Amino acid sequence: MAKFLIEQSGPLVGEVEISGSKNAVLPILAATLLAEGSFEIDDVPNLRDVDVMCKILRSMGAEVEEDREAHVIKVETGNINTSEVPYGLVKKMRASIVVMGPLLARTGRAQIAMPGGCSIGNRPIDLHNKGLKLLGANISIDRGKVDASCGKLKGTMIYLDFPSVGATENIMMAATLAEGITMIENAAEEPEIVDLANFLNKMGAKIKGAGTDTIRVEGVEKLHGCRHTVIPDRIETGTFMVAAAITRGDVLIKNTVPDHVRPVIAKLVECGAIVNDEVDGLRVRGDINELVATDIKTLPYPGFPTDMQPLMGVCLSLAEGTGIITESIYEHRFKYVDELAKMGVDAEVRGTVAVFKGSGILRGAEVNAPDLRAGAALVLAGLAADGYSVVNNIEYVLRGYEDFDGKLRELGAEIAVAEDDRDIHKFKMRVG
Ligand code: UD1
Repeated sequence: MAKFLIEQSGPLVGEVEISGSKNAVLPILAATLLAEGSFEIDDVPNLRDVDVMCKILRSMGAEVEEDREAHVIKVETGNINTSEVPYGLVKKMRASIVVMGPLLARTGRAQIAMPGGCSIGNRPIDLHNKGLKLLGANISIDRGKVDASCGKLKGTMIYLDFPSVGATENIMMAATLAEGITMIENAAEEPEIVDLANFLNKMGAKIKGAGTDTIRVEGVEKLHGCRHTVIPDRIETGTFMVAAAITRGDVLIKNTVPDHVRPVIAKLVECGAIVNDEVDGLRVRGDINELVATDIKTLPYPGFPTDMQPLMGVCLSLAEGTGIITESIYEHRFKYVDELAKMGVDAEVRGTVAVFKGSGILRGAEVNAPDLRAGAALVLAGLAADGYSVVNNIEYVLRGYEDFDGKLRELGAEIAVAEDDRDIHKFKMRVG
């Protein structure tokens, strides 16, 4: 199993280019199933989750051409010949549930394995099902398999008990081909929802209000192909912002939308970082002030993103004073705290609250990435920790960050991927 080898790295300095958003491109690729047409998607990040979504589309009969160097994917959806999503692919990626809405609307049926819980929490799909049922689908779940079928879907009012991102996406996509008007209330407001709605509107859909808590979808008869550029990844942006701050660096983050990371900017500024919105991107400096603790509560957008929570946990571990993180989206998202303890962090988790008593010092250690964002957080911890660290299970991290170690190395980080003992030996020789 591959691992990251990391040596304490002085201030990260330079420029980094953010990739297209993972969480935007996955539903956008799924949405191509709604039309018989040709699509070109630009600024697609090179990620394993994108590979899985391309495999899903191919398994349904779509032609998918990937030019990974140019970050372009072309999809032809003229021939969709099955309603069954292969079990093995769904198990690899929870986010594959977003093919359910498009498939149902296009073919009248969607059979998909129930995506299980994952290490960050339970993650049910009751809200996806509630919305699709209100649109007229019959849904049964038997031995872990969801079987949804419908005649012509009919627009209606759907209130989401929680503004779920995936449920909003599935319902919005299905509603584009429904008869009449669908109102989604208490909808998720994330930038990825807006990007998906823009994409669907380019396909000929009639969606208004995406980015607010009420989305109005007027159903149309047919959708068509289009070209679209994916928005930059706000969580990758936030990750490099934290990396700059905790290594006392000075990093210009390019290809980013500052408006999408306002809560991260606010919290890093409270911690003492200096963040400037410049013409070319966001500049984050951690080289002037000492880091000080703050409190954070995760919330649906525009609140503080749960995906940034573990990264801020590392920041609080290094800050002066006591900082508290309250996690209100996922119940098991503090597993990384035990790993940080191996690096000498004094933190305590009580249910959905973690208290960090920042010591300002981390010790290098061997740690295990429990999930994607926690894995990235542990990498950043390794950069700031004294001496040598190893982060195991890096497959999680590679699912969500394009060339993570390469981008960090460009900024001066001492990090390498090791497949075997020889790589470890080489790295140790290099960093002394
Ligand atoms: C998306 C993001 C993920 C991010 C999350 C919250 C993708 C591919 N993933 O995940 O990175 O952490 O938003 O910002 O875009 N819930 C229900 N019933 C449902 C659906 C969700 O109770 O039917 C609950 C979940 O258990 C969780 C909360 O709602 O507690 C948020 O989930 P949701 O917004 O649906 O997250 P995802 O779309 O899965």
